[in-house]
Amino acid sequence: MPPDAIGTGPAAYFLETRFMTVITNVEDLRVLAQRRVPRMFYDYADSGSWTEGTYRANAEDFQKIKLRQRVAVNMENRSTRTTLVGQPVAMPLAIAPTGLAGMQHADGEILAARAAKAAGIPYTLSTMSICSIEDVAHHAGDGFWFQLYVMKDRAFIERLIDRAKAARCGALVLTLDLQILGQRHKDLKNGLSAPPKMTLANLINIASKPRWALGMLGTKRRQFGNIVGHVSGVADMGSLGEWTAKQFDPALNWGDVAWIKERWGGKLILKGIQDVEDARLAADSGADALIVSNHGGRQLDGAQSSIEALPAIVDAVGHRIEIHMDGGVRSGQDVLKARALGARGVYIGRPYLYGLGAMGEAGVAKCLEIIHRELDLTMAFCGHTDIETVDKRILLPGTFPT
Ligand code: GLV
Repeated sequence: MPPDAIGTGPAAYFLETRFMTVITNVEDLRVLAQRRVPRMFYDYADSGSWTEGTYRANAEDFQKIKLRQRVAVNMENRSTRTTLVGQPVAMPLAIAPTGLAGMQHADGEILAARAAKAAGIPYTLSTMSICSIEDVAHHAGDGFWFQLYVMKDRAFIERLIDRAKAARCGALVLTLDLQILGQRHKDLKNGLSAPPKMTLANLINIASKPRWALGMLGTKRRQFGNIVGHVSGVADMGSLGEWTAKQFDPALNWGDVAWIKERWGGKLILKGIQDVEDARLAADSGADALIVSNHGGRQLDGAQSSIEALPAIVDAVGHRIEIHMDGGVRSGQDVLKARALGARGVYIGRPYLYGLGAMGEAGVAKCLEIIHRELDLTMAFCGHTDIETVDKRILLPGTFPT
């Protein structure tokens, strides 16, 4: 059992990990998470906006890209080590910011941050997390990255930036693609709101997830920890709902990026770039990296998949700014394909949430271990022993976007 097991007592830890040996891929974690997490929170993670076309394309487009197998190449002494915005990492992977991770499993953000740290990759804490910045820093240590949403209450944003600085976060990930919210049918139908609608159907569903419910009863972390108690007039879920509904700022613009960069003063990563023109503006802003992302297909339904959008952005600005990507990554093979197409860093959201919902900290660790093994072995099958030497030549011409 991990030391100081937040969210898991010894018995719960045993129960959570007893299927561990049969978990061999991310899909196994997804299936287990779906069984263990209440529907409204599982669906929140596992959905896209409107037709979910972009959400599906993100993963499907990876499958169209074919790898070139090479043989009789010495495969000893392999390394997936690299750097992301100057920070050494064990593989070119980071955990993406995802709202409400602490609702997939009690104390979810703390558990995931610990698993990421143990695996040697960055964890990105969402503004809309359940555990607060300070709580994660206290229980998982410093160095994790912090994701910022720009709200109308600029004084609150300034305080959040200062709190992330005080917690010694390693980078600020500024989300640019959620000024307004894309409609997700499942969330509306499930009554996912702050506070969640406790309909009879939801209560019956929660009653069928005793492991999850026990974890939640055993923790005090059940609200948006970065907000409740840090904004005047927001003291509980009801007032929080009203506040957040009004707060996402539709007027966000590149001028805001400049003042946020200045106030933060550390590594800045801009998330949500899909278009070459926006990529140029991101490079002009002086940020350290941009993330090619469509918010996991949760915002503009009908947008290109991230992997399809990646090459043009790499061509246009890859020499001026570090390029990262997220969206549809479900395996180490996907990480390798994105890296080959020019993404220095790749983020996973849903895969780690499946691990978290399935088995808490051990599930996130399992997810990272699976992806690392897949990446390492697939790189070797493609004839490489060092991730730094991987490029487009490992891909079969005509099967990848250009
Ligand atoms: C928030 O990031 C969301 O996509 O719900």
